[in-house]
Amino acid sequence: MTAKPENTRLLWGASTAPHQIEGNNINSDWWQREGQVPGLERSGDACDSYHRYEEDMRLLADAGLNAYRFGVEWARIEPVPGEFSRAELAHYRRMIDKALELDLTPVVTLHHFTNPAWFAAEGGWLGERGIDRFVSYVERVCSILGDVPYVATMNEPNMLAMMMTMELQMLQQMQQAQSQPQAKAEAEGDEVWQSPTVDNDFRPKLPAPDPAIGEVLVKAHHAVRDIVRSRTDAAVGWTVANRAFVARPGAEEKLTELEYIWENLYLEAARGDDFIGVQSYSSQWISKDGIEPHPQLPDNTQVGTAYRPDSLGMAVRHTWDITGGVPILVTENGIATEDDTRRIAYTQSALEGLFAAADDGIDVRGYLHWTALDNYEWGHWEPKFGLIAVDRETFERRPKPSLAWLGDVARRGRP
Ligand code: FCB
Repeated sequence: MTAKPENTRLLWGASTAPHQIEGNNINSDWWQREGQVPGLERSGDACDSYHRYEEDMRLLADAGLNAYRFGVEWARIEPVPGEFSRAELAHYRRMIDKALELDLTPVVTLHHFTNPAWFAAEGGWLGERGIDRFVSYVERVCSILGDVPYVATMNEPNMLAMMMTMELQMLQQMQQAQSQPQAKAEAEGDEVWQSPTVDNDFRPKLPAPDPAIGEVLVKAHHAVRDIVRSRTDAAVGWTVANRAFVARPGAEEKLTELEYIWENLYLEAARGDDFIGVQSYSSQWISKDGIEPHPQLPDNTQVGTAYRPDSLGMAVRHTWDITGGVPILVTENGIATEDDTRRIAYTQSALEGLFAAADDGIDVRGYLHWTALDNYEWGHWEPKFGLIAVDRETFERRPKPSLAWLGDVARRGRP
């Protein structure tokens, strides 16, 4: 199945996620986590985009971009089980209307890491009612999605599975600690919630996502895919975090094993989708022992990853191979840096890799940069991924040169 014919213009835009920019997502599990886990900064008012979305969209449209990816927040739409807020649905419908009015193609994400707090308390995705709860939420949201051209059911299910694996491991450690005092001391040292993206030397490496959790998320995606297809005109897919793994000599088998666990399980599940969202930032080496920890280098990004703009081309080619030719929309690519000149250089190079892949015959539907605004990066405010700076006191938006630069590329249609 290919994307529906109306989705033909090449998209150039920016991506966001509700929890990272809206502010005061108080009914979500992330809001609770921020209050409980030491070391996590709070999202608070975030960028106040809940109220300022029009200004955000205008800045993108005025710069020359033609698309905007944003999410609808489940915790707002269904703040308690079975109670759907018509006012919140109307809010998100106004956002869709505003995007269309500004000639920004809306790309809407239904789930971007955050859950309603009640859903998490009920057992979340692994709870008995997990998938049914998601289905009934998605059915309601379909009422506002009729003319939205692209809908992503879930953002980075592979990273979500990783975070869920991490949480289960922490829980097990705590339970052990209660029964055995020696394990307690060890667990206290380990009990550090890690951001899905912030990678650094002073924390243990991210656990591999448990494939059994991945399978549940695949079921959830498939359960809602046909519902969205039948009730809207949207092309439906999900977005997968690509690690652009490369094997050291002799580590080919390890690569196959890790690629399956981290990516291919999720890419294979996209084979019947209308599009696949590619999300790429960096690349990582695989040795016989697993993922090589990336050393601290002067040109690392602010989240500790290697400066690898070539990873986008790698991710797109890998995704095309594994999905067997599902149309590709780059739904995230960007760099955490204070230096906007570096952002432009990174993006230029990433786009060259993307267009080389497209010139080789890969069906690329667009490029959405991560991200519009400097935002709340899952526990941290320091990483700066935005095309637009935001004053955290006044919420004033200050577009960076990279925004105008990307708008020019969009107008030209090629890097
Ligand atoms: C991705 C997430 C997104 C943001 C970027 C930097 O993993 O989807 O919300 O955190 O990384």
